[in-house]
Amino acid sequence: MNTTFLSASEHTGLAGRVCAITGAGSGIGRATAMAFARLGAHVAVIDRDIAGAQATAEQAQALGVKAVAIACDTSDEAAVTAAAARSQEALGPCDVLVNAAGVLKAASLEDMSLQEWNRVLSINLTGYFLCAQAFGRQMRAKGTGSIVHIASIAATHATGHSGAYAISKAAVAMLSRQLAIEWGSQGIRSNTVCPGMTWTGMTQESYGRPGISELRGKAIPLGRIGQPEEIADAIVYLASDRSGYVSGIDLTVDGAFTRNLMSLVPRTAN
Ligand SMILES: NC(=O)c1ccc[n+]([C@@H]2O[C@H](COP(=O)([O-])OP(=O)(O)OC[C@H]3O[C@@H](n4cnc5c(N)ncnc54)[C@H](O)[C@@H]3O)[C@@H](O)[C@H]2O)c1
Repeated sequence: MNTTFLSASEHTGLAGRVCAITGAGSGIGRATAMAFARLGAHVAVIDRDIAGAQATAEQAQALGVKAVAIACDTSDEAAVTAAAARSQEALGPCDVLVNAAGVLKAASLEDMSLQEWNRVLSINLTGYFLCAQAFGRQMRAKGTGSIVHIASIAATHATGHSGAYAISKAAVAMLSRQLAIEWGSQGIRSNTVCPGMTWTGMTQESYGRPGISELRGKAIPLGRIGQPEEIADAIVYLASDRSGYVSGIDLTVDGAFTRNLMSLVPRTAN
């Protein structure tokens, strides 16, 4: 019997690949950069928070891969163009882009200012488009690549008082499908990951309040809020060779929370 097993990096095909991750100075983006680095990929760590980006890049370098921290506001076209050029110069042409840089600001639509509406859409949606364009050029030149966009379960479930957030996430899911159709023939896949409730810097303030995470955990069939590393595992799958024929999908990672509607039906005790 042949007992030669594949290593994890052989299985995923990610060793030596160049992966650019936005929002990688914190949370899901950082967990993704570290998951890629553990599989031998070189990482471009992009964030407007350069201290956070540098910390992630140093952790990745300590694993023996190449990593570069790049300060960039992803809603600024010139900054994104410069970030893509810097990434290529430091690591070579991009194989994988993960769009994760995002913001969440509670607001009600009735009194939300146009300025705030534009701010959220310019980061959560336009920033994803700009990065896909800039890094997609490098992928198209190679004839291969994978783009993973982080949307949210809010993309399909309206959420009270979430301002433009859920709307931006719904548009991200369509941006991803559009790219899958337009760039598929050029060897590029595009998919969306929709996380449910996940412990990160973005959610620390609300989940960190006494009792909140326990209460929310009760609404989730798996009984707890997710960790950023668990979202990164799904991103790794979509970035890797193990999903070579998967494009245009939305992959929900939420502990079955969005499948739990029927448990809300009031019932009488028998
Ligand atoms: N945490 C959750 O429960 C959850 C659920 C669903 C979806 N998401 C999505 O996951 C993604 C990552 O969020 P997270 O939870 O890790 O949050 P986080 O706040 O920990 O990380 C977001 C990172 O994005 C960076 N960023 C924000 N605006 C930027 C900009 N204009 N340019 C460059 N960098 C910018 C921040 O500096 C930060 O480092 C976001 O798109 C978020 O909407 C999070």
